[in-house]
Amino acid sequence: MIDAQALGQLAGRLRSARAVAAMTGAGISAESGVPTFRGPDGLWRNYSAMDLATPQAFARDPRLVWQWYRWRQGIIGKAEPNPGHLALARLQSRISGFTLTTQNVDGLHQRAGSAHVIELHGNIWRARCAGGCGFVRDVAGEPLGEPDAVPVCRCGALLRPDVVWFGESLDAARIELAVRAARDCDVFLAVGTSALVHPAAGLPLLAGRAGALVVEINVDETPLTPQAGLVLRGKAAEVLPALELRL
Ligand code: APR
Repeated sequence: MIDAQALGQLAGRLRSARAVAAMTGAGISAESGVPTFRGPDGLWRNYSAMDLATPQAFARDPRLVWQWYRWRQGIIGKAEPNPGHLALARLQSRISGFTLTTQNVDGLHQRAGSAHVIELHGNIWRARCAGGCGFVRDVAGEPLGEPDAVPVCRCGALLRPDVVWFGESLDAARIELAVRAARDCDVFLAVGTSALVHPAAGLPLLAGRAGALVVEINVDETPLTPQAGLVLRGKAAEVLPALELRL
């Protein structure tokens, strides 16, 4: 049961907010059939992040890494934005000064109609040159050569998924936008994230220190829970539409 009083309180704060920052994690895409990372059936329970999501893993076995990303593309390609994604897109159009940052690489926010999504960890529908020539290619909807092939850049180097791997730094411009949104907001919504992976996990804390109301929307407790001013325990696809109705 969604906490009606907390929902009303949040709706009131959103109505008077000058700026709102939302940050999502894998939990918002769970109901679209996209596996989370650390949930009961999460990717990192079944696959080794060190064998699949590090630059060393790619150097060691680019074919295996691409097989795994193609498998994820297969799942994400069949997924549809759910009521949580759709509600956030509508909130963005109703609330001025609303920014949306995501850790997800699935592109479901954009498919739900959200604009200017700050993709902290990249996007699985893009490939970029692993050799550093800067070439980036949109691969949504087009097969990347033979299923087992490792795609090659026009400069001759390998292409790699345009996502951020463990041990890699985030794009400076994107993290700067996300930090600014967190620092300047009155309300920070942390939706469907385990709040374990930095620097993203630091954003709600930064917002809280800057005086914003930090709200956690999650089915479970996380390390962020004690720091949150409001907690809405429930599924994102249920809580966000319910919130919208209270606005
Ligand atoms: N609605 C709301 N929250 C949910 C739902 C749901 N339907 N289902 C699961 N959750 C919550 C879980 O309780 C958990 O706290 O979503 C969170 C998902 O956590 P993770 O799987 O750790 O995903 P995330 O926080 O996005 O991971 C961060 O880690 O592996 C890297 O780069 C990867 O972007 C990812 C980053």
